Amino acid sequence: MKQKYKFFLKRLFYYFYGEKFYKRLNYDWSKYPSRNEIIQNIINTRNYKSYLEIGCDRNENFSKIDIDHKVGVDPERGGTLRMTSDEFFGKNKDSFDLIFLDGLHTYEQTIKDIDNSLSTINENGVIFIHDCLPKKIWNQVVPRIYGHWNGDVWKAIVQARTYDHADTYTCIADHGIGIIFKRKNSNLLKLEKKNFKNLKFSDYFNNHEKFMNLIDHKDIDKIFRI
Ligand SMILES: C[S@@+](CC[C@H](N)C(=O)[O-])C[C@H]1O[C@@H](n2cnc3c(N)ncnc32)[C@H](O)[C@@H]1O
Repeated sequence: MKQKYKFFLKRLFYYFYGEKFYKRLNYDWSKYPSRNEIIQNIINTRNYKSYLEIGCDRNENFSKIDIDHKVGVDPERGGTLRMTSDEFFGKNKDSFDLIFLDGLHTYEQTIKDIDNSLSTINENGVIFIHDCLPKKIWNQVVPRIYGHWNGDVWKAIVQARTYDHADTYTCIADHGIGIIFKRKNSNLLKLEKKNFKNLKFSDYFNNHEKFMNLIDHKDIDKIFRI
């Protein structure tokens, strides 16, 4: 009976979200370094001095960041400033060496946060974005219905991959960490579809290596030198 109920519920969700897709990616995130290890390592090796985190929640990552100057923005809790990313970027005059985007996990908000970060990042700085590699269709549906929610952040990464003025990668670690440099795109993604919000999970599943420009965490240093 329970199985039958689950089956009908799934069918209802597939109908509601307009896509039926069963396959999943098999990443085991416990085998890779955490976002905090990756971020701190970059801060240390690049001798970065300033850090901005959008979306801090319980400061799980923010509190561990060791750097001269750090700012955390969250409308609910954590960080140093109680406001949304739009409010922050609307009045901010500072620039940062490393920006970590982990706020509202929708395509619309993430692409705004990326565009604003590209205007706010220092010349040799880098932008990191959390939750870029959902494993199943349910991890990325908007609105949220499921345990770990990556949201459709991945669609904003696909859009950034089509920018001339940004060089975008996705590191295979901690639910997928987008990495964006403000420089000429070294591997431009050419896409017929321009409505990124309408991309399907099946598009991502079938093309995710090319869409996301995947890299191994051991190669992060290399992409700083391109
Ligand atoms: C996934 S949590 C952040 C986790 C944290 N960065 C970490 O690494 O542990 C997402 C946070 O984004 C915040 N948030 C939601 N909408 C936001 C917005 N528009 N601007 C900034 N933060 C937002 C939420 O309040 C929540 O605390």
